[in-house]
Amino acid sequence: MPAGKRLILMGPPGGGKGTQAKRLQERFGIVQLSTGDMLRAAVIAKTDVGMKAKAIMDAGKLVSDELIIAMIEQRIDSADCNNGFILDGFPRTVPQAKALDGLLVSKGIALDKVIEVTVPDAMLIERITGRFTCKKCGEGYHDKFKQPGRAGICDVCSGTEFTRRADDNEDTVVARLQAYHAQTAPLMPFYKQRGLLEVIDGNRPMDDVTNDIERVL
Ligand code: AP5
Repeated sequence: MPAGKRLILMGPPGGGKGTQAKRLQERFGIVQLSTGDMLRAAVIAKTDVGMKAKAIMDAGKLVSDELIIAMIEQRIDSADCNNGFILDGFPRTVPQAKALDGLLVSKGIALDKVIEVTVPDAMLIERITGRFTCKKCGEGYHDKFKQPGRAGICDVCSGTEFTRRADDNEDTVVARLQAYHAQTAPLMPFYKQRGLLEVIDGNRPMDDVTNDIERVL
C-alpha cells in the first residue's frame, strides 16, 4: 500500500478495530487515530473533555458529536497525519460522518477505503471481558485469545503491570452494542454507495483478518 492512505476502520465494540489498526500502523507507517484512546487519555489527565466524557463512557453511551468532532479536527491537523491515517472508532454517527466529509474537503484530501470488520454480537462479550493491556506500552492482550508469551510479562516492553478498561464489563457491553447498531451501523450504506466500503469477516484468527485487510488495500 503506498504512503498517504486515509482509512476508516469500522466495527462493533471488541470487533478488533484497535488490534488491526495497530498492525496497519506498524506495517504501513500511517498513524492510528482512536477516539476511544484519546478520550481515555483525557479521562486520566482529568481535562475538561475527560471530565465530560467519563460518565458517558462508563455507561457505554456515545460522547457528544460536538466534542468528538472538535477533538478529531485538532488531531488531524498534526504533522504525523500528513502521511495518512487510520480512523479507529470515528465516525460513529451521521453528524460525525458529515463533519469528516467537510474536514477532508477543506484539506483537499479524500478517503481511500472504509473497512468494516464484522463479528457476531454473541462473540463480542467474551472478547471484551477478556481484554487487558500493558500499563506501560499499551500492548493489547486477551485472557484466552492472546496471552503474553511469559505469564505476567509484556511481550513488547517487559512491563509487569496490566490494566482493564472500566467499560469492559458485560452490562456496559450491551449498551455499547445497542449504540453501535442504532447509531453507527447506519453509516455502512453511506460509504457503500460511494464505493468505499470493504466488509471483512472479523470472526477468525487475528492474522487471517489482517491478511484480508491488507489484500483489499
Ligand atoms: P472505543 O475505545 O472506540 O471502544 P469500542 O468501539 O467499544 O471498541 P473497542 O476498543 O472495545 O474494541 P476494538 O474493536 O478496538 O477491539 P480490540 O482490537 O481491542 O470507545 C470507547 C467509548 O468511547 C465508547 O463507548 C464511547 O463512549 C466513546 N467514544 C469513542 N469514540 C467515539 C465517537 N466517535 N463518538 C462518540 N463516542 C465515542 O479487540 C478486543 C479484544 O479481542 C482484545 O482483547 C483482542 O486481543 C481480541 N481480539 C481482537 N481480534 C481478535 C480475533 N480476530 N480473534 C480473537 N480475539 C481477538
